Amino acid sequence: MKITKICCIGAGYVGGPTMAIIAQKCPQIQVTVVDLNEERIAAWNDADVNNIPIYEPGLSEIVKEARGRNLFFSTAVDQAIDEAEMIFISVNTPTKTYGKGKGMAADLKYIELCARQIARVSKSNKIVVEKSTLPVRTAEAIKSILDNTGNGVKFQILSNPEFLAEGTAVQDLLHPDRILIGGDTTAEGQKAIQALVDVYANWVAVDKILTTNVWSSELSKLTANAFLAQRISSINAMSELCEKTGADVNEVARAIGMDSRIGPKFLKASVGFGGSCFQKDILNLVYIAKSYGLQEVADYWEQVIIMNDHQKRRFSDTIVKTLYNTVSDKKIAFLGWAFKKDTNDTRESAAIYVADDLINENAKIAVYDPKVSRKKVLADLDYLQTRTADENAKSILSFENPYEACSNAHAVAILTEWDEFVAYDWQKIYDAMQKPAFVFDGRNILDKAVLEKIGFVYQAIGS
Ligand code: UDX
Ligand code: ADP
Repeated sequence: MKITKICCIGAGYVGGPTMAIIAQKCPQIQVTVVDLNEERIAAWNDADVNNIPIYEPGLSEIVKEARGRNLFFSTAVDQAIDEAEMIFISVNTPTKTYGKGKGMAADLKYIELCARQIARVSKSNKIVVEKSTLPVRTAEAIKSILDNTGNGVKFQILSNPEFLAEGTAVQDLLHPDRILIGGDTTAEGQKAIQALVDVYANWVAVDKILTTNVWSSELSKLTANAFLAQRISSINAMSELCEKTGADVNEVARAIGMDSRIGPKFLKASVGFGGSCFQKDILNLVYIAKSYGLQEVADYWEQVIIMNDHQKRRFSDTIVKTLYNTVSDKKIAFLGWAFKKDTNDTRESAAIYVADDLINENAKIAVYDPKVSRKKVLADLDYLQTRTADENAKSILSFENPYEACSNAHAVAILTEWDEFVAYDWQKIYDAMQKPAFVFDGRNILDKAVLEKIGFVYQAIGS
């Protein structure tokens, strides 16, 4: 089966960049990205490509090249579903905030709504591709909805998990380590898999395209994220020990990273991992393990999250302790709010939790992030429901300019590893701060010797 039209439901961090690359690499395929959110679609269609809703290095250029040629953004969901032979589901699957599995299981209501919509609209056979991270055996639920509510139309369900990391999405999509496609072992299933393999084969070597059954593919995604997050929690656990013993976690990471069995990546100690995937996927894994009665397996993975929460709390505790046990009415400047550099995404960012802790101690937080607005910062805090929106607004001072954010502050905390922070005029920042001037480097990006020479009291994670 040759694919000529693709529809992607969900124009977010996964759907947007993924479809932009497919459109760029497959000019013969018409790619339509749809979303219920009119504002988001309008932003994707903005005449100035710099205003697209998602910031990723290199993305706006690709959108500029393909948009209007074979890449379209629209709110006409039904029409795009009807026309396409292949439909990607890239809607959000947040952790449930209610009912059974609250705080752990993935909320599949958006997925189910999509499946019902596809079933209602489709008049011809379709291949449905799960792109969002989904718990094992979700495909079964989608299949059952499609097969029982459709009008005789035949659906094939594939799982094609996304391994792109935000901030490097374009490079990850252009040069993936592997593409994973799970499908039915039946002849029709294999045909559907082949149709998707043919799409990727436009720019990915076929030996990098792995095909598996649906369940292996779904579980592989959760496993990959659980392993990566576990490494960060492991090195973060060591960072605390390093601080107590005089070892330096960066040196330890370098030493163990040169062991080829361990490798150098994902060993950067930090204030804690964030992002839309790690926490959610591990909680999901824990929930699945529990639901099969595997308590030890569940506890094992849950510890990765417990360690991560501890690391965030430890960072805010250190700030309070070091500032003579009180931050009440003190201005603390946050450099960075995004969960990592090169993205405007703030989901589960450590900054949110550290700020929340410090506001509980009556601190005033001045935030500067090159890609995050005050509105977003406040929305993130309001979402925690620790206090009223009014109270949050009073506690957050935000500035367009990092030097203003740091001016008169008692301490600067680095929450995101943006490159530009390293290049700042730290002497100028020092001169404008309250003394003693403290820097808490939650990302280990600044040079201790340089800052101490200026006069800062400098504390990094893990040394
Ligand atoms: C992750 C996976 O990497 C990706 O494959 C998956 O598809 C989605 O989830 P992402 O969340 O975008 O991607 O970012 P990632 O680079 O994995 O970073 C996650 C968090 O861990 C960030 O907060 C980052 O700052 C932190 N991190 C990462 C560390 O603290 N130390 C490290 O060594 C690496
Ligand atoms: P991700 O990081 O997984 O891409 P996002 O939250 O950035 O998650 O994007 C998911 C998008 O899916 C949102 O823009 C949301 O409006 C959209 N969405 C959710 N449900 C539907 C639906 N039934 N139809 C169309 N779009 C949907």
